[in-house]
Amino acid sequence: MKNRLGFLLFFSLVTFSSFGQNKETALPDPLIFNNGKKVNNAREWTARREELLQTFRSEMYGTSPGRPKDMRFEVFDHDKNALNGKATRKQVTIHIRENGKEAKFDLLIYIPNKAKHPVPAIIGINFIGNQAINADPGIKLTEAWVENSKMFPCAVDGKATDACRGVNAKQWQVDSILDAGFALATMYREEIASDRKEEMFKTGVHTLYPELQNREDNFGTIAAWAWALSRGMDYLETDKDINAKKVAVFGFSRLGKAALWAGASDTRFALVLSNESGAGGAKLFHRGVGENIRRLNTVFPHWYAKSFRKYMDQDTVLPFDQHFIVDLIAPRPVYIASAENDKGSDPEGEFATAKEADVIYRFFKTNGLPVKEIPALNKSVMGQIGYHIRTGGHDVTSFDWKQFLIFSNLRLQK
Ligand code: GCU
Repeated sequence: MKNRLGFLLFFSLVTFSSFGQNKETALPDPLIFNNGKKVNNAREWTARREELLQTFRSEMYGTSPGRPKDMRFEVFDHDKNALNGKATRKQVTIHIRENGKEAKFDLLIYIPNKAKHPVPAIIGINFIGNQAINADPGIKLTEAWVENSKMFPCAVDGKATDACRGVNAKQWQVDSILDAGFALATMYREEIASDRKEEMFKTGVHTLYPELQNREDNFGTIAAWAWALSRGMDYLETDKDINAKKVAVFGFSRLGKAALWAGASDTRFALVLSNESGAGGAKLFHRGVGENIRRLNTVFPHWYAKSFRKYMDQDTVLPFDQHFIVDLIAPRPVYIASAENDKGSDPEGEFATAKEADVIYRFFKTNGLPVKEIPALNKSVMGQIGYHIRTGGHDVTSFDWKQFLIFSNLRLQK
């Protein structure tokens, strides 16, 4: 009996570890429909794309509302002489009413004065409030909760103060973005939907859609941020200074996870920039390396839909994976950036996703990812898929922005 148990244990260990080694075969194939049939052409891919979107809605991010019927853009600031004349600054409150409730969040926009209008743009959500991305005293201080963090000790009693101005400027490189001829649009995560566990689903846009809560595919917080990026795009489409056909969506870390889902689910985004989005972003779960599904669901229970919890400890056998997210973006350009010391994001796993997605980019006859092996440190590769791994840790650096701007310039400024 004992021997038999021992044998069974041994056998299951071998099976499990061979799963680990057989990652490539275990990985679900984007070109096979759920019913086992093969995708043969672009028309069939459109149908397969719908299946993939539906999988992510029901199993991971949750279901988002559509475009709100009752939405209003209030341009409350328009300064043509911002940043010493370099840019025009606009600030817009997006008001949304639904089910008798109102939610609102502010979009801060800088438009380069030198460039020929309409200009391409980059939109992304920020971590600490719009006022944190630049020291410009004209930026409205957020009224939403701000953490008094060790890194940015500027808030008092959860409120932003003048000391919060420009504290996150290094990660936003506004000058370089404007010099490259791009407008920058940004909004603050807490105004959209709180990132605090104890406040989950109680604030911002979540209050508008009670019918999307208390269900397996509930409207999660990453989905709420992605949805808000689409509302930002709704505004940009109305702004004559912006070329809405050339808008890139950018995000770092958890907000990179949101940028990827925004780019995957809203094809109006012409390009996607993912900076160390890691687990639940660009990293492939099947490798079983770095932050796992259990951690995501326990430390950040509000990020994904409840249904995603059933996959805890199933990372290496997941019936879908994050290469599907990039497949949904194809053939639009996407750039995935990793950092050597950001082990939680599993840089090799982010590269593996780029490599897997190459299949769909080639299916669309683009040059996909031009390399098979992970590039050397601080060497960017740029096809229709771009990738780099730079030295250093979890951050957005001037090196990252330099690559994003070269990549976006070549693809959106022509
Ligand atoms: C945590 C989390 C990551 C996330 C990161 C961030 O480290 O585990 O998944 O990307 O926060 O948003 O900075």
